[in-house]
Amino acid sequence: MSESPAIRIRFSGLGEFDAALGDSILDVALRNGVALDHACGGVCACSTCHVRVLAGAEALSAATEAEEDQLDRARDVGLDSRLGCQAKLVRVPRDGVLAVRIPVWNVNLVREAH
Ligand code: FES
Repeated sequence: MSESPAIRIRFSGLGEFDAALGDSILDVALRNGVALDHACGGVCACSTCHVRVLAGAEALSAATEAEEDQLDRARDVGLDSRLGCQAKLVRVPRDGVLAVRIPVWNVNLVREAH
């Protein structure tokens, strides 16, 4: 039996959690109580799950055209931007850790909703 390699996703300022190949960033956030918005339910029809990838991007599935189109509408976008529901772990990141940051305006949006 082969053991699956250890992978962690670090959400800046929010914590670091176990992940597995095939998980999306949103999957890991939701499993661990990280408040990553996902207005469309994870079907690539909004951009509220936007994250910036700080390290380990090589471990993620390539962005599709549909994802790029949604990101065009997001705020605070950069070359390291991904949709949390579309970016899936397809290999083990260097160091075993994928590091992401939820853009500040997104975090504020979640906080203001309380
Ligand atoms: S949750 Fe809507 S695009 Fe990711």
